[in-house]
Amino acid sequence: MVDSVFRTRSLGTPAEGVKDQYADGKAAKVWEVFIGDKNQRTQNYRDFLVGLLRQKGCYRILDVACGTGVDSIMLLEEGFEVVSVDASDKMLKYALKSRWNRRKEPAFDNWVIEEANWLTLFNDISHLIGEGFDAVICLGNSFAHMPDTFDDQREQRQALANFERCVKPGGLLLIDHRNYDYIIKTGQTPSKCIYYNSQHMTDIKTSVLFVSGKPKIVTMDYIVTLDEENKDPEYISEFRLSYYPHRLTVFRDMLTEIFSDRAKHTIYSDFKPLNQIENPGFYIHVVEKHY
Ligand SMILES: C[S@@+](CC[C@H](N)C(=O)[O-])C[C@H]1O[C@@H](n2cnc3c(N)ncnc32)[C@H](O)[C@@H]1O
Repeated sequence: MVDSVFRTRSLGTPAEGVKDQYADGKAAKVWEVFIGDKNQRTQNYRDFLVGLLRQKGCYRILDVACGTGVDSIMLLEEGFEVVSVDASDKMLKYALKSRWNRRKEPAFDNWVIEEANWLTLFNDISHLIGEGFDAVICLGNSFAHMPDTFDDQREQRQALANFERCVKPGGLLLIDHRNYDYIIKTGQTPSKCIYYNSQHMTDIKTSVLFVSGKPKIVTMDYIVTLDEENKDPEYISEFRLSYYPHRLTVFRDMLTEIFSDRAKHTIYSDFKPLNQIENPGFYIHVVEKHY
């Protein structure tokens, strides 16, 4: 396993069982600082997501990587009904806190937040699925957290199959990943981020690990300055997260396999039609499950 030669996550984070890379609480603590508050969520992102969901008539949304709740909160504020899940209790703690603080607003009072793992998602939340969700979202480069433990992407397929089962016929899956083709080629993460307007991000140091000539894992060391005025080490937070480097065409084919080639699959780069942007930071896949 690559873990034996390469430290893939912050020290103190367990490497066994459900791999919660956020378990040491470091990333969770600064996540909202890192991504900027919800008003700094880029307008492009809000317009794209809300516009697409409305255009497709979606109302009931499942956020399978809600983290601290940023995307879910944005959708609640826009009038959608949201069920949010995540495997990390350290991240969920912040989502639960937001729900509690805003419990007097009906949308927040009705907000369902559960702990669930993608590998067992369908069983974990079977009581909430009903006829299926109008849309399942997995955004913010979250899916790439799922490693390829068996070297054949079977767990990633299993997770995607669980997402597919949660989408109602005619509904959507929205799932994104960073532009790993670029990262593999250059060894660098494009600096622009389409989702976040954070003023606090100072650096992402990127490493690509090749095993037997194949890119197996990408680690990103995030350096977040908590106070712009103060550069003391105590005001700088560093955390490491690791990702499976999904190549665009391979990921596209995996989605086609899971959803069948009758599904309509559109790929956006940084929210624009594919190939309109040179070296995009993110690819966003929108898959419409056939009837
Ligand atoms: C990068 S955060 C993104 C959160 C949010 N969508 C955003 O954009 O800010 C990724 C989230 O995916 C969750 N995650 C990773 N692997 C998971 C798994 N197997 N099952 C459920 N959640 C998982 C992590 O716990 C983490 O909160």
